[in-house]
Amino acid sequence: MKLSKDFLWGGSIAAHQLEGAYNEGGKGLNTMDLFTSGSYETPRKITETLQDDQLYPSHTAIDFYHRYEEDIELFAEMGFRALRISIDWSRIFPNGDDPEPNKEGLEYYHKVLDKLIEKGIEPIVTLFHFELPVAIVKNYNSWLSRETIELYLKFVKTVVSEYKGKVTKWITFNEMNHIDPQTEASDIFTYILAGLEYSKMTDKKQTLATLGYNMTLASVKAVKIIREIDPKNQAGCVFGLAPSYPKTCKPEDVLLSFQDTIRDFYQIDAMMLGEFPKYKLFEFKKNGIELEITEEDQATFKEGILDFIGLNYYMSAVSSTEAEAKAQEALFGGEVNPYLEKSDWGWTVDPIGLRYLLNFVYRKYQKPIIICENGLGAVDQVAENGEVQDTYRIDYLQQHLSQLKKAVLEDGVECFGYLMWGPIDLVSASTGEMKKRYGFIYVDKQDDGSGDLSRSRKASYYWYQKLIETNGEEL
Ligand code: BG6
Repeated sequence: MKLSKDFLWGGSIAAHQLEGAYNEGGKGLNTMDLFTSGSYETPRKITETLQDDQLYPSHTAIDFYHRYEEDIELFAEMGFRALRISIDWSRIFPNGDDPEPNKEGLEYYHKVLDKLIEKGIEPIVTLFHFELPVAIVKNYNSWLSRETIELYLKFVKTVVSEYKGKVTKWITFNEMNHIDPQTEASDIFTYILAGLEYSKMTDKKQTLATLGYNMTLASVKAVKIIREIDPKNQAGCVFGLAPSYPKTCKPEDVLLSFQDTIRDFYQIDAMMLGEFPKYKLFEFKKNGIELEITEEDQATFKEGILDFIGLNYYMSAVSSTEAEAKAQEALFGGEVNPYLEKSDWGWTVDPIGLRYLLNFVYRKYQKPIIICENGLGAVDQVAENGEVQDTYRIDYLQQHLSQLKKAVLEDGVECFGYLMWGPIDLVSASTGEMKKRYGFIYVDKQDDGSGDLSRSRKASYYWYQKLIETNGEEL
């Protein structure tokens, strides 16, 4: 058995992590433009206004805005069949509520899409990958208000109509699932999703529930619009998921592992099952959370079911009910698995977790899945001759893809593509670093802003090229 010859091999990128040109082409400020650089040890800072003494990595990033042609040529040379990009909302509606879209912004994405199409690469477009116009947070209280849903839908309508015929696979949101009222959130995740800091929220549970509900509703409404504009369109939403294994076979640990793994699924359930899940409403009620759910909302859930599910997979975690001696905490809660290796940033490397997750999600919904992100953030060394021998990255990808193939060919999971994150070095979302590199393509840009931005092919570049050429046969 082989992967289908149409399997979408490619990569995933996001505007704020690579475009730069933050104040060009009529673009407004988005929340990521106010997020300073940080590191594994020092968290990124959020500033209310731009500060001269701070470094904001999104401002120049890797200058994809001016170099997209060269970069797309490099992706094409690797044989990419698809590239997932995001359209930065603040390039199209700089203030979020402008009466007319910004023509220069629309034009820029036309050029990017045209280049991709010219090179035979299918564009897959994410409509919200953390690029929230700052003015929406200031004037409309971010996703806490219904006006923001309407502004988002106007943006969606504008771009989906504008690029009709050029794009047919649309993704409404990237990883809205990281904030849940059941658990503590971090400032980083509430900020990247909503431009709001968790530590400053007065009624935390209520706020997280409202954000989660409104974003879910916005996605469902967007799906309807996407399909109305062009019946050829397919709509998906991307979730970042980390299965959590029980630390022991104690029933308490097993139950907790189920709860931890399933915690991030209420929004997928809402988008796949045609109604906002009753168990979540029960939980909200139990916690004194009140939501405004109209009859119109309820009807929309029925009409906005996704055509496909996008999964971002980086790691798994461990659930333990033992209070004593908690091992190192995992990024999305739970503990780090002692049986697994970790990246330099403490993310566990668990290829089998990918097979587990693919099966878990597929058996729940039986709808097509696309891997929208997976990759290894690592420190790369450039040798004197300019080469980067990133064998660790090749190993990582090889192991994950071998599990993906098992899920498809042995378990029958309908997975129609693999989009590696980020095929060209770009700014890390969680730390703001360049040092945390994911790419097949090395970019000469360092954390202090130095570097000539030149691009070069790493060893993994040739490996992925071969892999695509053999349609995944030669791992
Ligand atoms: C995903 C995000 O959660 O993780 C990306 O969708 C992000 O935007 C990726 O870049 C990897 O995380 P990081 O923090 O290493 O960039």
